[in-house]
Amino acid sequence: MLNFELYNPTNLIFGKGQIEKLATLVPKEAKILLAYGGGSIFKNGIYDQVIQNLKGFDIVEFGGIEPNPHFETLMKAVEVIKAEKVNFILAVGGGSVIDGVKFISAAVHFEGNPIDILQKRLLIKENAMPFGTVLTLPATGSEMNSGSVVTIQATQEKLAFGGSAMFPKFSICDPTVIASLPKRQIQNGVVDAYTHVMEQYLTYPHEGFLQDRIAEGILQTLIEIGPDVVENPTDYALASNFMWSCTMALNGLIQKGVPSDWATHMIGHELTALYGIDHARTLAIIAPSLYNVMFETKKEKLAQYGRRIFNLTGSDGEVAKEAINKTVEFFHTMGMDTKLSQYTNDYDKTADFIVNRFDERGWKGLGEKQLITLEKVKSIVEMSY
Ligand code: NZQ
Ligand code: ZN
Repeated sequence: MLNFELYNPTNLIFGKGQIEKLATLVPKEAKILLAYGGGSIFKNGIYDQVIQNLKGFDIVEFGGIEPNPHFETLMKAVEVIKAEKVNFILAVGGGSVIDGVKFISAAVHFEGNPIDILQKRLLIKENAMPFGTVLTLPATGSEMNSGSVVTIQATQEKLAFGGSAMFPKFSICDPTVIASLPKRQIQNGVVDAYTHVMEQYLTYPHEGFLQDRIAEGILQTLIEIGPDVVENPTDYALASNFMWSCTMALNGLIQKGVPSDWATHMIGHELTALYGIDHARTLAIIAPSLYNVMFETKKEKLAQYGRRIFNLTGSDGEVAKEAINKTVEFFHTMGMDTKLSQYTNDYDKTADFIVNRFDERGWKGLGEKQLITLEKVKSIVEMSY
């Protein structure tokens, strides 16, 4: 197993009614920026619950953080924080609001131009404003990790950053919040979490036996509950396992001591930046092509995945191929279209555009063995058309 450090300071508070603990979690005397998205929290009662449980606190509200949060919007929140002398941020929302708050937290005290945090992919280790979250959409794991993805609208760039100061102080994860989610967002959550596990699992055989088994457990749970939770989001057993699987998929645990890939995400982010396709759906478009193009590097792990997750039998090559088909089948069951042409007619230059961008950024070898060259990226994207 590879050496690793495990640092995760987020206090995760999980379960029905846990929002009642909010007042005990926010620092006393805090002046809070309550950050939220497009207003779903007003319709499903989460806003009322938050306000009710923060009686006595001084609160300034900042709404309108969009899905795939924009740098431009987040900078407005930074101004509000400075003008209002806020000293704590509460994110109430899904991955976009939480990621947005991470950026705001990093930008408030940043010396220099905060756009560098994104464009230079800076590691934020200190000087961040403390923040907590109330999760409303299980998917990204952002509630218990230190990563964030922000879009610069002006340049259509969707860029990731993070650092040890970007962990939430606490996250309240009440599975009942999923009752108001549109089906599409539940489907997205399942597929995003599934792909997070795949990015950290589907590499090459290694000695992280326990990590493999935990990863497989998350995949199996998502396959077991995914289709049902879409239809029955008020079933607490389904909702709670869905939410916990999403957190576990990307809170850093299964990544420790093992190689990881992340190229599906890197390419997928470009499709969101270019066409506005939901994050999870970009992964369902790219992942199968990536597994096919990188078949030789990933064959052994694909075979392990096929045998353990889908009970397939046969030679490594046969099982590995069929495992890709089974993955696509699962994505379809989860309501995903898996070809770019199903989302846009304007796709024929996409591969060249992405390759040029990666070239400019110096991303010439992605994946667990840096074998996903620009040529391979081109093949992957073209195969996804
Ligand atoms: O904006 P509001 O009104 O809140 O509506 C949202 C939004 O329209 C709605 N929603 C959220 N909770 C709801 C609800 N509607 C009804 N009831 C509820 N309880 O759902 C829509 C999508 O929300 P969003 O936050 O965008 O979705 P998600 O959680 O999937 O986050 C996606 C973002 O996270 C990034 C993605 O790239 C994307 O920008 N990611 C962040 C990661 C991380 N920080 O570790 C890793 C991921 O791989 C991912 O890249
Ligand atoms: Zn993701």
